[in-house]
Amino acid sequence: LPSHHILPSGDKIPSVALGVWQAGKGEVGAAVQTALKTGYRHIDGAWIYGNEEEVGKAISASGVPRDQLWLTSKLWNNFHAPEDIEPALDETLTRLNTEYLDLYLIHWPIAFKKGSNNVLDKELTANPYPTWQKLEELVDKGKIRNIGISNFNIARIKNLTANPLKHKPAVNQVELNYFNPQPELLKWSKENGLLLEAYSPLGSTKQVKEALSVPEVKEIAKKLDITPAQALISWHVQRGTIVLPKSVTPSRVQENFQVVTLPDDLFDKLEKAATSHPPQRVVNPSKNWGLDFDVFDENW
Ligand code: A2P
Repeated sequence: LPSHHILPSGDKIPSVALGVWQAGKGEVGAAVQTALKTGYRHIDGAWIYGNEEEVGKAISASGVPRDQLWLTSKLWNNFHAPEDIEPALDETLTRLNTEYLDLYLIHWPIAFKKGSNNVLDKELTANPYPTWQKLEELVDKGKIRNIGISNFNIARIKNLTANPLKHKPAVNQVELNYFNPQPELLKWSKENGLLLEAYSPLGSTKQVKEALSVPEVKEIAKKLDITPAQALISWHVQRGTIVLPKSVTPSRVQENFQVVTLPDDLFDKLEKAATSHPPQRVVNPSKNWGLDFDVFDENW
């Protein structure tokens, strides 16, 4: 299985990261330390997760040289206005105690008005190009090595890339798991040279139990003498995506880093099982945000 992928910039992004969404204060630092000791060199975080300071402290304490680490963060919806981006990025950099990010993503294709509680900025949501141009500027300034997007569907990607971009999106981070494997998006992304990153790869807290007891997953685990989580994480890497499993349990953090190649017949069987039931998203904040449309709908 590929240990990393090469982005358009030439940078090598490690295939398996520790995801820190929902990793709480007082536990995330230890998880990051365990991960770095285990050999992880990729941490996937975000401003909105509220734990960047603890993540930063754990990284600093680990002694792993900065140039051997891959750090991703994400621009929150409130900061899409060009003048708000650099201050938001600087806050993340300070909290992580670093001078640059390897990857900075637009967290959602949704812009809120600054300082507001989820009030939609219709203009910046409809047209993300001003936001993107500012991110390109920050790449050129050296504060970010690569820029990308998250939770963009094909229509949203085309809406962005129809502009004359200086730096194309390096990745698109989306929900990918047994319940919502998005085979069309994966195929389209491969055809268009856009790497996908899988968040909630085990089905997130809500669905992990169900994911780990899928018969095809259990069969792989049994035949290869690995755990169900390892079967699923390996499946993601074998599909050609970056995978971002979250855990704050030391033994699981270690377990999730061990991926193996699945024999073709077992891979195909799991892929078929995942893609032949009606897809069901685990994560969709549209209602929580009071949107009068679905953020994942192709038609807005
Ligand atoms: P915890 O963090 O308490 O260890 P996802 O990566 O899809 O977001 O899933 C995260 C959820 O899966 C968390 O509830 C996490 O629990 C749990 N989890 C992570 N790794 C494993 C594993 N190897 N075995 C069982 N559960 C796991």
